[in-house]
Amino acid sequence: MNASLISYYTALAQATAAPATSKAPLLKTFEIYRWNPETPDVAPKLQSYKVDLNQCGPMVLDALIKIKNEEDSTLTFRRSCREGICGSCAMNIGGGNTLACLSRIDRDVAQPLKIYPLPHMYVVKDLVPDLTHFYKQYKSIEPYLKQKTPPPEKENLQSIEDRKKLDGLYECILCACCSTSCPSYWWNSDVYLGPAVLMQAYRWMIDSRDHFGAERRQALQDPFSVYRCHTIMNCTRTCPKGLNPGLAIAEIKKAMSKDG
Ligand code: SF4
Ligand code: SF4
Ligand code: FES
Repeated sequence: MNASLISYYTALAQATAAPATSKAPLLKTFEIYRWNPETPDVAPKLQSYKVDLNQCGPMVLDALIKIKNEEDSTLTFRRSCREGICGSCAMNIGGGNTLACLSRIDRDVAQPLKIYPLPHMYVVKDLVPDLTHFYKQYKSIEPYLKQKTPPPEKENLQSIEDRKKLDGLYECILCACCSTSCPSYWWNSDVYLGPAVLMQAYRWMIDSRDHFGAERRQALQDPFSVYRCHTIMNCTRTCPKGLNPGLAIAEIKKAMSKDG
């Protein structure tokens, strides 16, 4: 390697090296729910970990990854995108359901941060909830375009106005924060579809390209699928994407009441 290349790489290494931090450690306690299916007789517990916030990224997911990498590789949680797109890091953080990757760590170290899996779900391990039933319910609403006419030769066109009706609905990432914050879903998830799935049902009902709106509503005509919603609105309050599943459910009820 010639001298100029060596000096280039030396400068690059210096420029990209982590800045030396002289900050004193800022130790925050994370109390995290632990349960291991391989030792089912051992009761679930909260386990404490200390993380130096001056050596950690700003989000709760950063702290969880740091704990797993540096302190305890057995800590189990889901994550993928780390930017609020995949929905896999949904958990109960400081008392509310949200995404760990969008949740900033409170730098007040006097307060420990408690982290649990999404509430009222079976737990696979630690912070990983079993979403099998949730996905089955999602499948039950047939979340895809259905038409009664042969498919068009090219695209299914839609007016700008009709496309706008999907705003606030299509952004849902199916993280399940809303459904698992809903008391009606806690107690009746065997028969009640819950806000996340109902909002997706509504998304297809009002899509101008779909021809099965009436049938989709008819499929929900029973005392439980929709009508277990009592407009408590926990769902809308908790949605980390700022969506309004409570309103979508109200719109479904309105349309169903017109169906007679
Ligand atoms: S509506 Fe919000 S909280 Fe509910 S599943 Fe979709 S993104 Fe998650
Ligand atoms: S409005 Fe209330 S009852 Fe209805 S889905 Fe949302 S949280 Fe549940
Ligand atoms: S890691 Fe994908 S939403 Fe948090």
